[in-house]
Amino acid sequence: MSESEKTATISLNGKDVALPVLSGTLGPDVIDIRKLPAQAGVFTYDPGYGETASCSSKITFIDGEKGILLHRGYPIAQLAEQATFMEVAYLLLNGELPAKAEYDTFVHSIKHHTLLHEQIRNFFNGFRRDAHPMAILCGTVGALSSFYHEGLDVSNAATRYQSALRIIAKIPTIAAWAYKYTQGETFVYPRNDLSYAENFLSMMFAVPSEPYKVNPVLARAMDRILILHADHEQNASTSTVRLAGSTGANPFACISAGIAALWGPAHGGANEAVLKMLAEIGHKDNIPEFIAKVKDKNSGVRLMGFGHRVYKNFDPRAKIMQATCHEVLSELGIKDDPLLDLAIELEKIAIHDEYFVKRSLYPNVDFYSGIILKAMGIPTSMFTVLFAVARTTGWISQWKEMIEEPGQRIGRPRQLYTGAPERDFTPFDKRG
Ligand code: CMC
Repeated sequence: MSESEKTATISLNGKDVALPVLSGTLGPDVIDIRKLPAQAGVFTYDPGYGETASCSSKITFIDGEKGILLHRGYPIAQLAEQATFMEVAYLLLNGELPAKAEYDTFVHSIKHHTLLHEQIRNFFNGFRRDAHPMAILCGTVGALSSFYHEGLDVSNAATRYQSALRIIAKIPTIAAWAYKYTQGETFVYPRNDLSYAENFLSMMFAVPSEPYKVNPVLARAMDRILILHADHEQNASTSTVRLAGSTGANPFACISAGIAALWGPAHGGANEAVLKMLAEIGHKDNIPEFIAKVKDKNSGVRLMGFGHRVYKNFDPRAKIMQATCHEVLSELGIKDDPLLDLAIELEKIAIHDEYFVKRSLYPNVDFYSGIILKAMGIPTSMFTVLFAVARTTGWISQWKEMIEEPGQRIGRPRQLYTGAPERDFTPFDKRG
């Protein structure tokens, strides 16, 4: 980040205040308003922080207009096609692609931290069998802080890195066990001979009574889904992780906060909501009626899996996901899936219907990921859990970057107060 020659001037109450303009490596300049309250006695107002840079970061760059997504400078399409999820995780966490030896050490460390403390098994028994797996994930990840006391010390760089490895390694185990628990099935332990994606599939679908062979096409698709969801700049859950982490809270608690934020249907819950929506529409013939509801502002109905806060042209992840979707369906021999037919029909409408075109509402990554996951046999309730497994690498990398930034401060937004002005307390007998 550098201070440019430019300044922005605000004229207020007859006074001009010059504010520095900062430039990043890519993207628009930003006006540094840190001295605004002191110099002009005002704050800025930006509900939802859509126009505010809350931090500087070297991890991910997005250009929503052009549909660009870069991790540490590398285009997402290149990473999805040529890298493994473990390479991307290393890249996000460390800043550079690993040399082969570094990669091997990283993968070895992740594999050797996938087991959960046996006492963590007891937590699962405390949940109802019909609990949503996101509830189990959120609670159990937070509970990791009661096992790794050294992880509570966020001031130690080696400990921070160790916690990051632990959390990336253990989250697939917790996620798969959350599923097994809701099914009443035996927990399947991690296997070190498998890749990260293969191991996740094995922990999800293997049973003790027979050998489990991972389908390589599905494993590759899973790896790609993980890559495509690994990080996405300062979205709601990542900002939640940063805000929680800015207080010095331990990383397990912060990731648990991120999981909670991801759960909402406007964020990570969207892929689950897509499938629910398709089931609700039920048949192609019902699409016009559903679209009419979507266009009616009073209905409160949205076309799930469409639109994005940042991508206003296309979501680059959606393109790759669309191709992966076709690969998986052809591998599994799925030709006439009614939900898939519906999805394809909705996609056509969005591309041609004026309502969607005018508002730049394109299918986003979750539109296709939901269909792929369903085809793979992953239950709908696990969709957001999978998103959380992938995004954990991004969250922990962003958390680490924030803690390591010189002069890091607690996050503390301000507000525009619109409540009652100061008034005197009235006792019961004087209240109207
Ligand atoms: N269906 C129908 N209309 C929509 C939709 C939608 N999915 N999304 C936006 N609009 C309309 C909205 O009503 C508004 O119309 P108007 O200008 O007439 O008032 C216009 O488009 C702009 O919408 P917005 O609410 O300002 O857009 P936003 O940037 O605040 O919302 C969003 C982004 C993702 C929350 C929203 O598009 C949405 O709710 N999509 C469905 C949920 C979804 O698929 N979320 C996953 C996002 S990708 C994964 C992730 O990053 O978590």
